[in-house]
Amino acid sequence: MTAINLDGLALSQKVINELRERVIEYKKEGICPKLATVLVGEDPASRVYVNLKKKDSEKIGVEYEELYFLDITEEKLLSIIDELNDREDINGILVQMPLPKHIDSNKVLEKINPLKDVDGFSPINVGRILLNLSDLFPCTPKGIIKILEEYKIPIQGSDITIINRSNIIGKPLAAMLINMGGTVTVVHSKTKNLKDKTKNADIVIVGVGKVNFLSADMVKEGAVVVDVGITRSQKGIKGDVKFDEVSKKAAYITPVPGGVGPMTRAMLLENLILCFEKQKVCAR
Ligand code: GUN
Repeated sequence: MTAINLDGLALSQKVINELRERVIEYKKEGICPKLATVLVGEDPASRVYVNLKKKDSEKIGVEYEELYFLDITEEKLLSIIDELNDREDINGILVQMPLPKHIDSNKVLEKINPLKDVDGFSPINVGRILLNLSDLFPCTPKGIIKILEEYKIPIQGSDITIINRSNIIGKPLAAMLINMGGTVTVVHSKTKNLKDKTKNADIVIVGVGKVNFLSADMVKEGAVVVDVGITRSQKGIKGDVKFDEVSKKAAYITPVPGGVGPMTRAMLLENLILCFEKQKVCAR
């Protein structure tokens, strides 16, 4: 068997085109969504991510403002977020993680108005997912589910193993898939006999940041494999999956690059538009 590529790049372009059309309509009404990003410190990867968010905002024609601080106290950062919460022209707030050690990121996430939380990281929004009350989801889990839906991969009744237990990927993704009727197993670096948990799964989703982590012997024939890994090397971005061997055994597989990554970026824009639309309703 040769796996079908789950083309996240093509799907993300479709999403971006749709969003661009919606923004054009809003502009005709004289209104325009606006994203604010907050970056603290000198982490080069964070700088790259924030620059991409600016570029992506330009792609769909929304307004964008970056607040950059080489250094800032926790108290001052919290008051900056309060100001952004109060500003009527700002519809989405994204605080780039990780923050410097002297700042408690949980306090920062709690401060962001849940209606402007384009990342879907605030405790209110995460809790709403657990209770299946949410319509605002973190970008990577949302992007993964969109890819699965686009290719009509069944979730209800499927055995799904997620190799990631983070607050921004594994935990919300598990809750979302459970809500959709999946039978979900979440494994991580402390899991015993990890292969036993992956080799019978219909869908394996891996995000550990280790190149060549998932090998063909860890998946069953005809599985769906979603690679959330990002490792930057001189040869470009690498995922977690031994693509050459796993793609011979799986039915569907996401490439890296061109799989989950572009969908994550597109979902941020979709969340911005969603937040904007909710705020419009609240303002009426
Ligand atoms: N750092 C790494 N990924 C992300 C993300 O998706 N959002 C934010 N805010 N910070 C990140």
